[in-house]
Amino acid sequence: METIISKISHTIKDDEIIHTAGDIIKSGGLVAFPTETVYGLGGDALNPDSSRKIYAAKGRPSDNPLIIHICKLEDIYRIVSDFPEKAKKLAREFWPGPLTMVLPKSDKVPKETTGGLNTVAVRMPVDPIALSFIEAAGGYVAAPSANLSGRPSPTSAKYVEEDMDGRIDMIIDDGDVEIGLESTIVDMTCEIPMLLRPGMITAEMLKEVLGDLETDKTILAGNIAGRPKAPGMKYKHYAPKGELTIIAGKPEEVIKRINELAKTGMQQGEKVGIIGTDENISFYYGDSIKSVGKHDDEVSIAKRLYRILREFDDENVTLIYSESFSTGGMGQAIMNRLLKAAGHQILYV
Ligand code: TXA
Ligand code: MG
Repeated sequence: METIISKISHTIKDDEIIHTAGDIIKSGGLVAFPTETVYGLGGDALNPDSSRKIYAAKGRPSDNPLIIHICKLEDIYRIVSDFPEKAKKLAREFWPGPLTMVLPKSDKVPKETTGGLNTVAVRMPVDPIALSFIEAAGGYVAAPSANLSGRPSPTSAKYVEEDMDGRIDMIIDDGDVEIGLESTIVDMTCEIPMLLRPGMITAEMLKEVLGDLETDKTILAGNIAGRPKAPGMKYKHYAPKGELTIIAGKPEEVIKRINELAKTGMQQGEKVGIIGTDENISFYYGDSIKSVGKHDDEVSIAKRLYRILREFDDENVTLIYSESFSTGGMGQAIMNRLLKAAGHQILYV
């Protein structure tokens, strides 16, 4: 299959691209598109064949449910059987935006889209290209992140091309995304809403609106804590090719230990990558040293994390050592993804 790659110009010309993309979805094809979080791999959410194609293109197990993206609040009523008051409150506060809510599904939604579940994950993104594309596509776009299963989510169209060229019909290229980590997911079908995946909309922000919020215990813990509630979170996700270890502790100790480990690795013929922060970056020795941002600026770290993991892959780095980050606010999302990428290998010094 030849993949059309269309570059957004932010002029009237974009209308044609969006229109073509919408028609592809309506006729059962697949289109990767930008959102504020990461690029999505879209298909018609109400067409079971489209969902099957999404799983095939990603190489993803089909018990892993997809998020349905909508562009207007009233459209939600066709795909959910109940839209409780608490969920409405969250929608008013955070939609359009990087929040996904799990709700009871209506019978319009095929089981192929929800991986066999009776619930459906719904999100209204804020990216204007995403919104017009969803509208042109008929209003209901099922979309996982547009990466091959097991690779970091794509934060730029060039990474979508790397993973999906030849596997899907079209890529809408709007350069780099805004946020760089996937949306926050909250399950609204529990008595007390439950945070399943942390993101830019933080637990604190959700609690302010909801009052009570529970958190899936597996978010920051390893396998010992049980089975995650979002089926997709159980897979080893976001995994770079190199073996990643996180080093946590006082900055001087962390730098010292990372340098020791890097030296040993290099002596053994490994190619060593280091993920540091602006404050410490000049103190490291390794084959490839990258700063993910300022240590206390979570927004900048979120934006660069997946890109760095992919760059290490391109450079064939075999061992990666990373600093650790705080778990407050958006830090919870950063550490959740980093811990997964590391298969929960963390060294305290
Ligand atoms: O930011 C995002 O959410 C991006 C963009 C493209 O919107 N999408 C995304 O999709 O990250 P994906 O498929 O990579 O991650 C969706 C997660 C998976 O872990 C999946 O298991 C969970 O959402 N999920 C989907 N439907 C669910 C449901 N009904 N109940 C519980 N978890 C669900
Ligand atoms: Mg994903």
